[in-house]
Amino acid sequence: MTKITIRRPDDWHLHLRDGAMLQGILPETTRHFARAIIMPNLVPPVATVADARSYRDRIVAAIPKGDTFEPLMTLYLTEATQADDVARGKAEGLIHAVKLYPAGATTNSHGGVRNFDKVMPVLERMAEIGLPLCVHGEVTTPEVDIFDREAVFIETVLDPLRKRLPELKVTMEHVTTADGINYIRSATKNLAGSITTHHLIINRNAILVGGIKPHYYCLPVAKRESHRVALVEAATSGDRRFFLGTDSAPHADPLKECACGCAGCFTATNTMSCLAHVFENAGALGKLEAFASLNGPAWYGLPVNEETITLVKRDQPVSYPAKIETGAGPVTVFDPMFPLHWAVED
Ligand code: DOR
Ligand code: ZN
Repeated sequence: MTKITIRRPDDWHLHLRDGAMLQGILPETTRHFARAIIMPNLVPPVATVADARSYRDRIVAAIPKGDTFEPLMTLYLTEATQADDVARGKAEGLIHAVKLYPAGATTNSHGGVRNFDKVMPVLERMAEIGLPLCVHGEVTTPEVDIFDREAVFIETVLDPLRKRLPELKVTMEHVTTADGINYIRSATKNLAGSITTHHLIINRNAILVGGIKPHYYCLPVAKRESHRVALVEAATSGDRRFFLGTDSAPHADPLKECACGCAGCFTATNTMSCLAHVFENAGALGKLEAFASLNGPAWYGLPVNEETITLVKRDQPVSYPAKIETGAGPVTVFDPMFPLHWAVED
């Protein structure tokens, strides 16, 4: 097969930032994607419906002329979040999920949750009104090895929370382990998982072998190869519980190429080419549409997109810019370390 047409994809986990960075990187997403769940980890975080409304306006103002794109807003869960505010945001069609960052888990997560008892009233209301909780699934306990943080989170936080509140819909975001995949598969309801482009392609060697490679460092950190294989298996299976959330997370190069570099891979530019490669290699190109365009809307209770995109396999490798120049500095585009032959037709 050298050509495939699918419904226009959506990105169910995206960092757009604000200001000059937003302006610079938004076209990389709107070129191919119709909608995206927008992460709220700005400084300060998008914590209230009023914050989300004005952030949405800034995103909409930055959409390039001629592109159509719908930002699906989320709220950053803090111990001060008000259940009524969240419910109002959902009722007015603005808020599509609430994001849980365990305090300290990743970029701008210090305002996150330390004591779950404090957020139970909000979570109970969300369960009532059917609003999903998007979860950054890593514990932050210093004693826990960074490569075990997802597995320990499932056992000590996520599973107890789901037992306490079985009606709460939970999206386990950027799943990076076979443990996460198996946990989602074992659930009978109210649990789904997003998988990033880069975690389908790299394992931890990409970060550490042959010198330290900051552009492959993200959180949750990529794990060993057997986990990557489990992620590919889940993504290409067609199982409705797994869908694309790129976690494309731009940082200006100087903030990644330094002694304490930020976490995040920027994959917005070449995600669809990368995914077509991964799915073709797995003999599952026919499942790409389910992963990128069908399963996410079904989970979030939204219609699928009516437009389509066509991917074509070229004889010559497709070239992408190495960096996106933004008013906030250059952002390095994810390098999958193999030539890309699939391109989205204009
Ligand atoms: O790699 C990551 N980058 N993981 C996250 O959870 C946050 C994100 C960011 O905001 O840069
Ligand atoms: Zn993220």
